[in-house]
Amino acid sequence: MAQPMSATNPFLNFPYGPIQMECEAHDLVVEGEVPADLCGTLFRAGPNQRFKPRGDYHLFMGDGMVHAFHIRDGKVNYNNRWVRTNKWKLEDREARALINPMNPFDCDPAYSDFVFTDKDGTANTAVVWHGGRMLVMEEGHPPFEIDPDTLESIGSWSFRGKLTTAMTAHPKIDPVTGEMVFFAYMASGAFSPDVMVHKVNAQGILTESVRIETPYSSMVHDFVITENYIVIPVMPITGSLDRAMVGGPPFAWEPEKGVFLGVLPRHGGTAENIRWVEMDVSFAFHFMNAFDKDGVISVDACQFETAPLFPTPDGKATGKSEPFLTRWTIDMNDPKSRATFKRIDEFQSEFPQCDPRYTGKEYRHGWYTSPDGTAKSTITENDDFYNVVGHFDHKTGAVDRYSFGQAMTSEAIFVPKSATAAEGEGYLLSVVTNFETRTSSLYIFNALKLADGPLAKVHLSHRVPAGFHGGWRPGV
Ligand SMILES: [Fe+2]
Repeated sequence: MAQPMSATNPFLNFPYGPIQMECEAHDLVVEGEVPADLCGTLFRAGPNQRFKPRGDYHLFMGDGMVHAFHIRDGKVNYNNRWVRTNKWKLEDREARALINPMNPFDCDPAYSDFVFTDKDGTANTAVVWHGGRMLVMEEGHPPFEIDPDTLESIGSWSFRGKLTTAMTAHPKIDPVTGEMVFFAYMASGAFSPDVMVHKVNAQGILTESVRIETPYSSMVHDFVITENYIVIPVMPITGSLDRAMVGGPPFAWEPEKGVFLGVLPRHGGTAENIRWVEMDVSFAFHFMNAFDKDGVISVDACQFETAPLFPTPDGKATGKSEPFLTRWTIDMNDPKSRATFKRIDEFQSEFPQCDPRYTGKEYRHGWYTSPDGTAKSTITENDDFYNVVGHFDHKTGAVDRYSFGQAMTSEAIFVPKSATAAEGEGYLLSVVTNFETRTSSLYIFNALKLADGPLAKVHLSHRVPAGFHGGWRPGV
């Protein structure tokens, strides 16, 4: 019989805690009007722990579940499924947790080697539709393919054996060529100081892999591409097997290691062509976009002063740290220059987005989530719930915001109105959990008129647990 989850771990309780069901819901109740030209599927990925976990539970280790809102002709259908990873299937058979994905020493003895040999991971972080495949990512493992309609699990995808590393949860797709660029950190094994950059063409064929030595072993969550460069940010969340073996944290914040931005020529770049550009210490999980112009690279980051959610090497908390939209400048014309940065927005921001047709190009419009300060969380490192969607206009500096009040919003995804629509002309989609009803709704906004409120609210009768990232698959 399944055991109850911890009542005190915030990540196992509302609004993060798991739901214990899979379902289909047809023709959801709509308040307002779903735009007739919005056609496709919004996917959300997140952790949804199946059984009472082994050891201390961290949100990053939950079993992946995918939720999908299928939108057509003003109507919305919904379904959700756990991703059937190796871990999920083994535990389903025994009806209990066998594996602690973040601590190999805390697995059932019969599975003590599982974490090091598992090829599926937890598939709980992000999704991407590319090359005719729907991939679910979790940065420590290769991607996992699912059916985009039924959400049924197909299995781990290695690009026909060519991918020998993990895959970041933040691949970038060139809007002109359809090429997908991604990377893996610790590419040649646990805690190795290297990354591998991969390119996959529009047809889904892996065409190129480049291995690069990094200044030190670091956790690299996101990166950027521009028309001419790939930038890998090595920031000091360091990985150390030696530290882990003596009981210390495997990953820790070590600002004295410095920040190094690895700039690789996008076309024809080899490991010898990488240039490491130093920058003052800071941290970012996520980037809004980047572009290069006349040899100067601009990178827009949701930047923290110190990394939240990770301890110092002696296990102490790094304390509260809030992210703000910050522009990094890398001058490739001056081989000795350091990168500089400047905050460009007054509000906190995370989960940044741009119009995907402008990925890597000079751009005007960006979106993010943000707190308004009224909805308080129980997590000390971040005591505000994100209950705002925001739009930032890089041309004017203007900010347009909408607050959901006592609620929490997911990352918001931008969908263009049409392939030929102007930049930013389209819809912003977010999944919002109301603290009073404890149910979730899909909100659809005019992306350039957020303060006007949603065009439509599409209601579920249950909750989508607070997760990480989503994606859009255009309809036909
Ligand atoms: Fe992320």
